[in-house]
Amino acid sequence: MCRGPRSRGRLVSRLEKLIAAMTLAEKLGQMTMTASGYAVTGPVIAGDSTHSIRDGTLGNLLNMVGADHCHEMQRLAVEGSRLGIPLLIGLDIIHGHRTLFPVPLAEVASFDPKAWTQTAREAALEGAADGLAMTFAPMLDVSRDPRWGRGVEGPGEDSWLGARVAEAKVRGFQGDDLSSPESLAACAKHFCAYGPVTAGREYAAVDISERTVHEVHLPPFAAAIDAGVATIMPSFTDLAGIPMTVHVGLLRGWLRGKHGFDGVIVSDYNAIGELINHGVAADLVEAATLSLKAGVDIDMMSDAYRRGLPTALERGWVTMEEIDAAVRRVLTLKERLGLFDDPYRRGAKPETPAALANRRRVARDVSARSIVMLKNDNDTLPLGQVRTIAVLGPLANASAEMGGPWGSAQDVESHVAVLAGLRNASSGTEILHEAGVDIQSDATTGIPGAVALCERADAIVLCIGEAANMSGEAASRAQLDLPGQQRAFAEAVLARARKLGKRVIVVLFSGRPLVLPWLFEKADAVLAAWFLGSEAGNAIADVLTGRVSPTGRTPMAWPVAVGQIPVFFGERPSGRPFNPKDHYTSKYLDIPNEPLFPFGHGLTYGRFVLSNLRVTPGQVSERDTLEVRVDVTNEGARRAEETVFLFIHDKVASVTRPLLELKGFGKIALEPGGSGTVVMQMPASELRFLGLEMKPVFEAGEVEILVGPCADRTKLLVTSVKLER
Ligand code: NOJ
Repeated sequence: MCRGPRSRGRLVSRLEKLIAAMTLAEKLGQMTMTASGYAVTGPVIAGDSTHSIRDGTLGNLLNMVGADHCHEMQRLAVEGSRLGIPLLIGLDIIHGHRTLFPVPLAEVASFDPKAWTQTAREAALEGAADGLAMTFAPMLDVSRDPRWGRGVEGPGEDSWLGARVAEAKVRGFQGDDLSSPESLAACAKHFCAYGPVTAGREYAAVDISERTVHEVHLPPFAAAIDAGVATIMPSFTDLAGIPMTVHVGLLRGWLRGKHGFDGVIVSDYNAIGELINHGVAADLVEAATLSLKAGVDIDMMSDAYRRGLPTALERGWVTMEEIDAAVRRVLTLKERLGLFDDPYRRGAKPETPAALANRRRVARDVSARSIVMLKNDNDTLPLGQVRTIAVLGPLANASAEMGGPWGSAQDVESHVAVLAGLRNASSGTEILHEAGVDIQSDATTGIPGAVALCERADAIVLCIGEAANMSGEAASRAQLDLPGQQRAFAEAVLARARKLGKRVIVVLFSGRPLVLPWLFEKADAVLAAWFLGSEAGNAIADVLTGRVSPTGRTPMAWPVAVGQIPVFFGERPSGRPFNPKDHYTSKYLDIPNEPLFPFGHGLTYGRFVLSNLRVTPGQVSERDTLEVRVDVTNEGARRAEETVFLFIHDKVASVTRPLLELKGFGKIALEPGGSGTVVMQMPASELRFLGLEMKPVFEAGEVEILVGPCADRTKLLVTSVKLER
């Protein structure tokens, strides 16, 4: 809804009057967010929150669930406090609320921006129906290091892709009107460059070049701002010695200054207090001062603003104007969310059964589209007519694991495991099941019994991988293999199946690419099932049975060995590129340079051939738009959907350019024998890069245009365009 100048004026004066009437304690309350725990019997307000809400010294809550409870707290603020300012209540709705969709990394694999928006919209509807007004999502940290557990929450290894995810998600969460009872304020996080933590270790220091910060890590945030994101969260980490929570250059300079972001900056959980551990503040007074100066409006969980800013003010370290500016931004957000007009608008009406059923349909559809078929030798999949399937492994009947990391409000009971999904899909098929081993324990006694089931089965589906809590926050891993005794179990199943001449299909669960070259060599087919959420089992069954042809593509490379990490397609060229005939070139002595599966890899049930790449116009200036076309034929025997990627490579420039840069993708569904053309548009401004002075330049010369099924250069068709100034 657009407000006219008159109502905007009224609103400004309403907020200004409020600010003028507020005590310092009330102002600091608006700049504070604390957690409320939640018990089965109701919310447990941490510490003195109930009292603080009533006396107006706490304005924002996180981690509440349930419309009744949110309204109860809201009532304390609106009807019980002196100024009646409504609460802002937020939660991490990362990939769904009660209904879970695929974890973000999985969903990115669908390369389907409409789906990305749709699941965010559904999550917003569900969260808002629960009384919430804010989600701490989307997470936009580009991640090239699968050791880092938080890659699961984000867009994968590519920055351009991260920007597309940012736009889609902000649109989905916020809708067209932030004040709608069905919209949530989104929060672009974690600003910025959290992904390259040292050695992939969670919360560790970050030290990368300014160029990489600007070329790789900032573009998704720029896209989120352009899409109108309401809030931004700085990351816990530092960047070359400056913790992001106090990074004046990037928060005040880049975000607020260059990109005009005037929404709310909310700190991460206790991040202001942790400035003391970082070693840039001696106490909460200093920590609060530095954060406010950098532009952080809300202190989440450190209580540094309430405890530190009064002293900072007395000492003249901060001014009342700086405090008022933060309060103004928080109140403006509450106003934009419609909370002043009707604080109970979210959660006023329960959702209809039809809305819930539709959400499950969306979840199943998007989940199936997020599965990446990494291997499928001899057309092992789809299963075809089978009488008996052995569904083995600790993740076969593990509905509680299907949600993956994040999902505090998830309805675990309703998640569908693979076993249930296959039973739903295959009436008349006998389905045998044994877990064999646990996900993580050392027990091996179940192995022989489970392996014996191979004898009775026509098809063996082995469900293995990580536990849901092995990725996400505080979940870095140094060995990216199967936990517990799963390798021993999988090797035993593979060996028995080989002897019996039977094929093994692996359904691999993980929040990151795992390093399992032995498994990829021996299994006949492998599906990367990530963590797909509530409808996981049904979606996996859809792909196994062929009801759905897989279309997902990995948004992160799958390494051959941990020692390759980080391995990603956007690497810069070496002066000595690998040449097998020349020892003194860039290589490892013991493993190849290339990952096992590059970015974009993913098989379908079709067989696609690309031809006739053409680009118009052949000569471009900065304001033109390029049209890239490629013909695609399905030479396979089944209908399927192909994804093609558009890359560029600027071979000669004033600054070395990455070997490949992603600039687009397209999809086409074709019947067997069918042909069609994928058309992709690319503004020529995409051919700009940050020059020697770190300013965008459009340099005359030739740029390669490469199109193909993944980031493996040998599989790409190549042409070029001339750039003229
Ligand atoms: C810490 C995490 O880093 C952040 O992503 C999350 O939003 C907050 N905790 C709140 O739960």
